Amino acid sequence: MAVMDVRSISKEIKGEIKREVDEILLSGKRPPHLVAIMVGDNPASKAYVKNKVKTCDELGIKSTLLHFESDISQEAIKEVIANLNSDKSVDGFILQLPIPAHLNSQDLLLEIDPMKDVDGFHPMNFGKMALGLPSFLPATPYGIILLIERLNLETSGKKVAVLGRSDIVGTPMSLLLSRKAPYGNCTVTLLHSRSKNIRNELLGSDIIVAAIGIPKFVTADMVKTGAVIFDVGINRVEDEHSKSGSRLVGDVDTDQVKDIASWITPVPGGIGLMTIVALMKNTLRAYNMELYGK
Ligand code: GUN
Repeated sequence: MAVMDVRSISKEIKGEIKREVDEILLSGKRPPHLVAIMVGDNPASKAYVKNKVKTCDELGIKSTLLHFESDISQEAIKEVIANLNSDKSVDGFILQLPIPAHLNSQDLLLEIDPMKDVDGFHPMNFGKMALGLPSFLPATPYGIILLIERLNLETSGKKVAVLGRSDIVGTPMSLLLSRKAPYGNCTVTLLHSRSKNIRNELLGSDIIVAAIGIPKFVTADMVKTGAVIFDVGINRVEDEHSKSGSRLVGDVDTDQVKDIASWITPVPGGIGLMTIVALMKNTLRAYNMELYGK
C-alpha cells in the first residue's frame, strides 16, 4: 500500500496559488478577499475556519472571519449575506456548516450571490455542476478531483463507491466522477444509510470515497485488492495513549486496509488539506471572475 503524500501535493498547489497572488500584488492590484461566516461554537467548525484563515495568510489572500453567537436570527444572517453580496471588496464568502438548528441553511445558501459562492453550494452552481457547465465546485469533492489529477489516476470506466450522500461531499462527488470529463467517466454507486449489501458494493469497487462520518467503518473485508481509497472522515475518538485523551481517525480502518488498497489518503493530513486548497482556488477564480464574466 502507498499512503498518498497529500501534504506535498497540497503544498505544490498552494505554491502555484501564491505565485499567482504575488503577481497580482506586484501589479499593484488589491489581493483576493475571502470572508467566512461562522455561527456558534462548533469545535470542528472552529478548527476548519481557523485553518482556512491561516492558509489565506500564507498565500497572501485577505480573509475576514465574521463570527456570530449561536442565537442569531435567520433575518440577521440574511442581512449579513446581502451586505457581502454588494461589498465590492469581497470576492467570495462561505457560510461554515453546520449552523444551529433554528437556522435554515438551504434558505440562507439561496441568498448568496452565485458569483461569490466559492463553496459551490448555491443551487445555481450546484445545478451547473450537475449539467457539466463551468461553476464553483464544492471544496471537498473538488479537492479529491485535484488529487486524482495530480496523481494522474485513471478514472475512465472505473467502478466507484461513494459512501455517504451529504450535500457537501457524497452527492457532488458522485456527480463529478460520473460526468463525461477528464477525471470522470466512472460508473458510480452512491451508498447511504438505506443501502443494502454495502460490503459487496465496496468490494466490487476500484475507487472508494468514504464520507459517512463513522470512525473506521470501512474494514479489510470490504476492500478489493488494489483499490484506491479517499478517506474524507475526520472523527475524533478517545485515545488513552494520547496526551489530549483523543485523536482523529478517518472512516476507513487504515491499519486493516493498508495491505490491500493500492492508495489511501491519511487522516489527518489528507483530504482536509485538499479541501482548503480547493477553496483557495475557488477564491482566486472568483477574484479573476473566471466563471461569471468581468
Ligand atoms: N463544513 C464541512 N465542510 C464544509 C465546507 O467545505 N464548507 C462549509 N461552508 N462548511 C463545511
